Amino acid sequence: MANPSIAQDTQVLPREQEETNEKRLNEILSSYQGKEEELIPILQQVQQAFGYLPEPMMKKIAKFLQLPESTVFGIGTFYAQFKLVPSGRNIIRVCRGTACHVRGGARILREVEKHLGIKPGESSLDLEYCLETVACIGACALAPTMVVNNATHGQMTTKKAAEALEQFRGKK
Ligand code: FES
Repeated sequence: MANPSIAQDTQVLPREQEETNEKRLNEILSSYQGKEEELIPILQQVQQAFGYLPEPMMKKIAKFLQLPESTVFGIGTFYAQFKLVPSGRNIIRVCRGTACHVRGGARILREVEKHLGIKPGESSLDLEYCLETVACIGACALAPTMVVNNATHGQMTTKKAAEALEQFRGKK
């Protein structure tokens, strides 16, 4: 069963929003010719415009390119750059690299998961946060590390991780 506290692509949009989205999609498609090789650039542009690839748009793109929907969904799920569910505006990244791992990175990740109520790859229901893990952020001397949007936090403890998130929430 779906976790009710994380974002899913099951939102029913108000009619006006649907129309605006449709208009935006048509604008994007109008700059293409409907050729199969345009699939990836179109998906990239749609994701850039909407933050993810909404299911109804994937179907319209399939129609526009005269491709089976399964092909469009296949590409959307194959490449890590594409997101099929809405993604949180603020990205929290916790490092899972070796240097961070040996210095307690797993504890930091658990604390952040607890704090945000989501797991890596998920976004919070209010779309404020998404949580990711990374292989190394290139600041191993500061391990264990985490990044809140573009701000790197080093020598993390569970307490410092919780404080960094609280502080960030307070600033918004
Ligand atoms: S392993 Fe975490 S910053 Fe390099």
